Amino acid sequence: MGPVSTPSSDAPSSPRRVHLVHFGCQMNELDAELVVGDLARRGWGRTDDAAQADLILVNTCSVREHAEEKVWSLLGTYKPLKKRRPALRIGVLGCMAQRVKGEIARRAPHVDLVLGTSSFRRVVEDLDDVERRGGRIVRTDRRPDPDSLPDADREISVREHRHRAYVTVMRGCDHVCAYCIVPFTRGRETSRRKADVLAEVERLAADGVREVTFLGQNINTYGKDRPDEGGLCGLLEDAARVPGVDRLRFLTSNPFDMTEDMMRRFGALPKVMPWLHIPAQSGSDRVLARMKRTYTAAQYREVVGWARRHVPGVEVTSDFIVGFPGETDEDFALTKALLEETRLVQAYVFKYSVRPNTLAARTLEDDVPEEVKRARNLALLEAQDAISEAANRALLGTVVEVLLDEPSKTDPARMSGRTPGNRLVHVLAGGELAGRLARVRVTDATAHSLRGERVEVEPAPRAWTSSR
Ligand code: 5AD
Ligand code: SF4
Repeated sequence: MGPVSTPSSDAPSSPRRVHLVHFGCQMNELDAELVVGDLARRGWGRTDDAAQADLILVNTCSVREHAEEKVWSLLGTYKPLKKRRPALRIGVLGCMAQRVKGEIARRAPHVDLVLGTSSFRRVVEDLDDVERRGGRIVRTDRRPDPDSLPDADREISVREHRHRAYVTVMRGCDHVCAYCIVPFTRGRETSRRKADVLAEVERLAADGVREVTFLGQNINTYGKDRPDEGGLCGLLEDAARVPGVDRLRFLTSNPFDMTEDMMRRFGALPKVMPWLHIPAQSGSDRVLARMKRTYTAAQYREVVGWARRHVPGVEVTSDFIVGFPGETDEDFALTKALLEETRLVQAYVFKYSVRPNTLAARTLEDDVPEEVKRARNLALLEAQDAISEAANRALLGTVVEVLLDEPSKTDPARMSGRTPGNRLVHVLAGGELAGRLARVRVTDATAHSLRGERVEVEPAPRAWTSSR
């Protein structure tokens, strides 16, 4: 994350510093930002160096075993730091804290705070408690109460990106996909009040944010538990009226909660960017049924068709899991066929990972050998790379609109930003143009990004509104 500006109220003269590591999804990234904001209000600064920190926080992910293994080994590396400096405090937050609970205390006794997915905003007060009384605090009770979601009172001055921001609008998931740990770590779907979400968007817009991405594990059912609030489309329509907001995005969309009418409404809102992340997971109906995904490959194709029909210029992206229990060569061939036929601009591919207590873990044997999973993963990634590269190359010589966002990580002469369809573009431009919309001619294309030259930049920030 970038520099943190620290509000001055009750800040001590030499600030204590937090080192924060996060794993997992965009919501996890934002949750980490919420905590850093809480600490900044109390005068805490940041450090990239764990050895210099007064507090180390690890915001964790449980979606695959590998992400949890990385946390265990990271926690191991903090043990000597704590031994050298017993005043160092260490906290484990988020999904894995929620899932493994007290096991962290047993396997990593040098950890002081274990705060699950409902409790991670308690870092500041729990830290005070630990300082006062010693010992360790473990909080993993889940509060399904919509008014105690951990999203209130965000310190908006603390943000990684100045011109785009995530806003969580709902947490949890009511589906029970057989492979997925999320219902266990994040619980039932709970939506924030629309007025609270809009107030947050207004504050962010007033602070320079032009692009807002709404987050929820199953975002198409936003507001299911608040029937008078108009659902996701109502939220987008209202957010589009917030002065200063030029671009809206949202994720994740699941095929089972998408309707053709929703696509029409997205398509009718120019500020809703033409990008939908709609995970397919598999192209085999047998596998989809065992995953409990409740749609067929044909229905997935239909949903993509609706998007392409009703949302001008839409780009759809997807996730796939290979090696789900019982997946045969034939099943895998169907997945590859779906990917090759839909020609989505981008897809993430994951090897199936058993998650304790899920339906698949309880009822299905993890019977696809690791080398077969690896080979299928590679084959799918290769096929997708060819499609992504062709899709990007098709833009060579054309002019795309990019919100210039931050210095490119790979080339100091460039700024990075996204097209309306969410393609990453590295543009020849200096940092003074951050936050401007630019029309950019595409000069190079790889599978994962574009490079381009400025044709025109809006004369002053906010002179244009984003167009599709
Ligand atoms: N194993 C592998 N991949 C998984 N995902 C979710 N659970 C698992 C699992 N047990 C993938 C899905 C999901 C993405 C966020 O992670 O593709 O869409
Ligand atoms: Fe990981 Fe899912 Fe939790 Fe996000 S919600 S941190 S992807 S387990």
